[in-house]
Amino acid sequence: MKFLPVAEPDLRGNERKYVMDCIDSTWISSLGKYITEFEEKFSSYCGAGYGVSVFNGTVALHLALAALGIGKGHEVIVPDFTFIATANAVTYTGARPVFVDADKNTWNIDVAKIMEKITPKTKAIIPVHLYGHPCDMGPILEIARENRLFVVEDCAEAHGAEYKGKKVGSLGDVGCFSFYGNKILTTGEGGMCVTNDEKLVKRMRFLKDHGMTRPYYYHPEVGFNFRMTNLQAAIGLAQLERIDDIIATKIKHAKLYRKLLDRTPGITFQPEEPYAKSVFWLHSILVEGDFRCSRDELMKELKEAGIDSRPFFIPMHELPPYKGNGFPIASGLSRKGVNLPSSTLLVEEDIKRVCDVIKGK
Ligand SMILES: Cc1ncc(COP(=O)(O)O)c(C=O)c1O
Repeated sequence: MKFLPVAEPDLRGNERKYVMDCIDSTWISSLGKYITEFEEKFSSYCGAGYGVSVFNGTVALHLALAALGIGKGHEVIVPDFTFIATANAVTYTGARPVFVDADKNTWNIDVAKIMEKITPKTKAIIPVHLYGHPCDMGPILEIARENRLFVVEDCAEAHGAEYKGKKVGSLGDVGCFSFYGNKILTTGEGGMCVTNDEKLVKRMRFLKDHGMTRPYYYHPEVGFNFRMTNLQAAIGLAQLERIDDIIATKIKHAKLYRKLLDRTPGITFQPEEPYAKSVFWLHSILVEGDFRCSRDELMKELKEAGIDSRPFFIPMHELPPYKGNGFPIASGLSRKGVNLPSSTLLVEEDIKRVCDVIKGK
């Protein structure tokens, strides 16, 4: 029986050709034509003026926050229900992540609960576009403007997603992407910061390359080595050529999952809000009250049928580094959620097989 993974890179385009070009030309390190082209084309795809490539999504967030001057004594608003990298990036700068519960409909940050967490120390908000669904950015940008806060979008899971017709990443001060192997667009490991702010770009380029200015080896500050390689960028560029197809397949699969599981008692999906175009990074369900078994039992059944799945993230306040309380929605989502096979290499029959197991057939 064919094993169905939750995620699998879809490398059916020019990925091999461009990587071989790097090898044949010996440009395999962090200089080269693919880096510049990938930065230009990906940022322009997002509707932003500039792109700064880095070696993963976590350091994209770290770099953006550091370049905005966020550090010790500062606070940054982060959703409680996210992958830990969002919170860790804040911690790496010396600032403190301050968590906000999830919205029970969208699963994203509850915008109505942001204001009560703002203090004189707050410097930024990091909305996370979870599972490919954009946050309600209008009110978030409004709160940020009124309180003079930066908005750093965590777009790790949402390449190409749109809020009111505008692509995520271009809505706040800076957008941070991950190109990890399970993401909508992958470079193996990789990441990028996109922005329209020329000053911020200069600062990010400086910090990501050991804080070096010219002449060579002059370092006025302690920087980082966050550079992406030409090899990664070569894969990214080939992926970008096919991003419309990749997203169209994600949307087609999301519709099929919804159709096949429609009216299955106790199964709900992340809804697509009227302001949103989701890119359905992972096909995710909540397994609730009147479903025929528990979430964990369902995951066991899937495993026995050769089908991979993942539980939802554990919310930040339940993890040792960020222990806290008062986030009931995030806790509830975490206990009920399952990520189903979401690769664009799946065919209709595969999705039917997953849904049959869920329906107990
Ligand atoms: C919401 C979110 N933020 C940040 C990251 C970090 O990206 P990376 O794994 O490329 O460091 C991820 C995923 O891995 C993520 O899902």
